[in-house]
Amino acid sequence: MAEQLLHIENLKVNVEEKEILHGISLDIAPGETHVLMGPNGAGKSTLGYAIMGNPRYQVTSGKIVFNGEDITEEAVDQRAKAGIYLSFQNPLEVPGLTLSSFIKTSVEQKTGKHIRIWDFRKQLRAAMDVLQMDPSYADRDLNVGFSGGEKKKAEILQLLMLNPALAILDETDSGLDVDAVRTVSRGVEEYQKNHDGALLIITHSTRILEALRVDHTHVLAAGKIVADGGAGLVDQINENGFEQFLN
Ligand SMILES: Nc1ncnc2c1ncn2[C@@H]1O[C@H](COP(=O)(O)OP(=O)(O)O)[C@@H](O)[C@H]1O
Ligand SMILES: [Mg+2]
Repeated sequence: MAEQLLHIENLKVNVEEKEILHGISLDIAPGETHVLMGPNGAGKSTLGYAIMGNPRYQVTSGKIVFNGEDITEEAVDQRAKAGIYLSFQNPLEVPGLTLSSFIKTSVEQKTGKHIRIWDFRKQLRAAMDVLQMDPSYADRDLNVGFSGGEKKKAEILQLLMLNPALAILDETDSGLDVDAVRTVSRGVEEYQKNHDGALLIITHSTRILEALRVDHTHVLAAGKIVADGGAGLVDQINENGFEQFLN
């Protein structure tokens, strides 16, 4: 078996003393794209937060191994440095911090190196072009007054600039109009192709997947993985829903 980027073994996760994930196992190899689907409340976001290391999500058994290192006990910032990125369902608004400074600081924290402003600006401009973002957004306060679609584009912009080894996208496409989904999808495709990044895409809709290569699909229901398959499983779910996997 190929060396795994992410190896999750029999993971059990509690939120406020209640067990939400009941023993999840999942392997993602470098550069692979995995899709995670499942009914509302199945625990999809919980899995994303647990991989990222959000302290509200307590791992009670099992382990998370990233790049060969057991990160089960590591803090969020260490996991980010190691190369994991989680996009949020509801990105934060931060008055007084521009989008550009936020991204520059994140990149510098991740790499531990100072980037020259000129190089940074050039890269940022190129990534904003891919996402069809007006360059003026770079100097606006982070997410303040951004529409839903613009916030999601800002998340993908961070993804392209941070260039993590693994990106977890939690319903990045929800609530977006058709054009915005296409643009976001183009940004994700850029990350997939040109950065050879691995992806765990949590989604209900398949529009974001149209332009993307999908390697594996998993169905999560009531805290357990109830089905695994290839790209075809997404179509099967689209046609018949989740009922076939329940009970
Ligand atoms: N921060 C939290 N506080 C309390 N309950 C939570 C929290 N996060 C998740 N849960 C509970 O865990 C279950 C799974 O939620 P979630 O992971 O958000 O599902 P999904 O993303 O698949 O819709 C739900 O019953 C939800 O109420
Ligand atoms: Mg969710």
